[in-house]
Amino acid sequence: MEPLLAAHDVHAAIGASRILHGLSLAVGRGEVVALVGRNGAGKTTALRTLMGHVRPWQGTVRWQGQDITRWPAHARARAGIAYVPQDRRMFANLTVEESLEVAEAAHPNRRPREEIYELFPVLAERRRQLSGFLSGGEQRMLALARALVANPSLILLDEPTDGLAPVVVEQLLSRIAAVAAQGISILLAEQNVRFAAMLARRGYLIHKGAIRREGTVEELLADEEAAGRYLAV
Ligand SMILES: Nc1ncnc2c1ncn2[C@@H]1O[C@H](COP(=O)(O)OP(=O)(O)O)[C@@H](O)[C@H]1O
Ligand SMILES: [Mg+2]
Repeated sequence: MEPLLAAHDVHAAIGASRILHGLSLAVGRGEVVALVGRNGAGKTTALRTLMGHVRPWQGTVRWQGQDITRWPAHARARAGIAYVPQDRRMFANLTVEESLEVAEAAHPNRRPREEIYELFPVLAERRRQLSGFLSGGEQRMLALARALVANPSLILLDEPTDGLAPVVVEQLLSRIAAVAAQGISILLAEQNVRFAAMLARRGYLIHKGAIRREGTVEELLADEEAAGRYLAV
């Protein structure tokens, strides 16, 4: 079957720096796929390119078989792709509820807020709190919740666990798993294969802007040679 999203031989640069060198990957319907690599490997650039924030100079990106390589980000968002950046751009002066309202205003086919609160009960509890006063894990949940408002089919999720304490990581991953259980595909950028393995069955190892290994997360975890070469251990 046609994958939901497929990148083939994508080359991309930021300014004069060439960053992606022939990246190819695919995400199926309802699948959680990990994109694992150390800091500077090209994960964020890959996700930004898939979202349309970076324009590749070679290669193709397909969405349900359709060539979307030249589509701007807003068209991809309308088609069902959401991007949750690594840096949490929060409206610190808005409450949780107001932040969701801002997202709702931008997306007419939005998902009912009660459904979002069911997925993230802690956000329901904190709905009148200012976003700036949420804990790190709660801020990540809010960022994900805001992306869900648009009712995406695929979420490009950039290092959600970055900087969180292990116990918080577990709580967050369980919420992401609940999102995935609704059939939403996720491409999860991660430095930590073990965290990625808690969600994904399959993954890609990225290094210097290209995929070096792909396989089940068990295969990636067992590949010590690749881990030594391409991951921070
Ligand atoms: N705005 C930028 N200008 C120039 N180089 C950049 C820029 N952003 C990232 N890079 C470089 O691109 C490479 C990949 O970065 P990035 O995609 O952020 O990797 P990751 O998310 O895996 O840490 C790194 O070498 C980084 O220094
Ligand atoms: Mg990054």
